[in-house]
Amino acid sequence: MTQRIALYPGSFDPPTNGHLSIIQRGLKMFDGLIVAVLRNPAKDALFTVEQRVELLKGAVDGDSKVQVKTFSGLLVKFAQEQGVNTVLRGLRAVSDFEYEFQMANMNRKLDPNIETLFMMTGEDYFYISSRFVRDVARLGGDVSGLVPQNVLLALKKRFK
Ligand code: PNS
Repeated sequence: MTQRIALYPGSFDPPTNGHLSIIQRGLKMFDGLIVAVLRNPAKDALFTVEQRVELLKGAVDGDSKVQVKTFSGLLVKFAQEQGVNTVLRGLRAVSDFEYEFQMANMNRKLDPNIETLFMMTGEDYFYISSRFVRDVARLGGDVSGLVPQNVLLALKKRFK
C-alpha cells in the first residue's frame, strides 16, 4: 500500500509546542511526515539548523513516522525530490492568513501538483510563535509549557 507522506516545512527556531501539536495531529491524517527545516543564511537565527534538527528529533522522541530533514532553495523543488505532494502548515490567527495564502498560491503556481493543507493550531497554542518564544527566553521570561522539554533546556542553556 502507498504510504501517505506530507511535508511540514518551517524555520523551527526554536520548535514550539504549537509545532509539535501540528506534527501529532498531522500523523493522524498521514502515515508519516517529513519535517523540513529551511536553511536560510539570511536569517538571524538563534539555533543553528543542525541544532534545530536535533531539537525536533528530541521533541518527537525518535518517532519513526517523523523524518527530520533540511532543505534550501524552493520548497516545491524539495517536495518533488522527496516525492511528496502535500505541504502541511499550521494556521494560528487571521494574521497568519495572508502570508500563508500567498505562499500556498505561489507554491501552486510553481507546481500545480502540490497542495497545501492547513491545520488550525490548537486553542492552547494560538499565541505561541517561535519569535515570541525567542524574545521572551532572551529576556529571562518563563517559556515552560510553550516549548517541548528538550527545547526548554536548550533555551535555558543558551541564555543562562
Ligand atoms: O516557519 P516559517 O519561517 O514560517 O517557514 C517558512 C517556509 C520555510 C515554509 C518558507 O519560507 C519557504 O518555504 N521557504 C523556501 C523558499 C520558497 O520556496 N519560496 C517560495 C514560496 S513563497
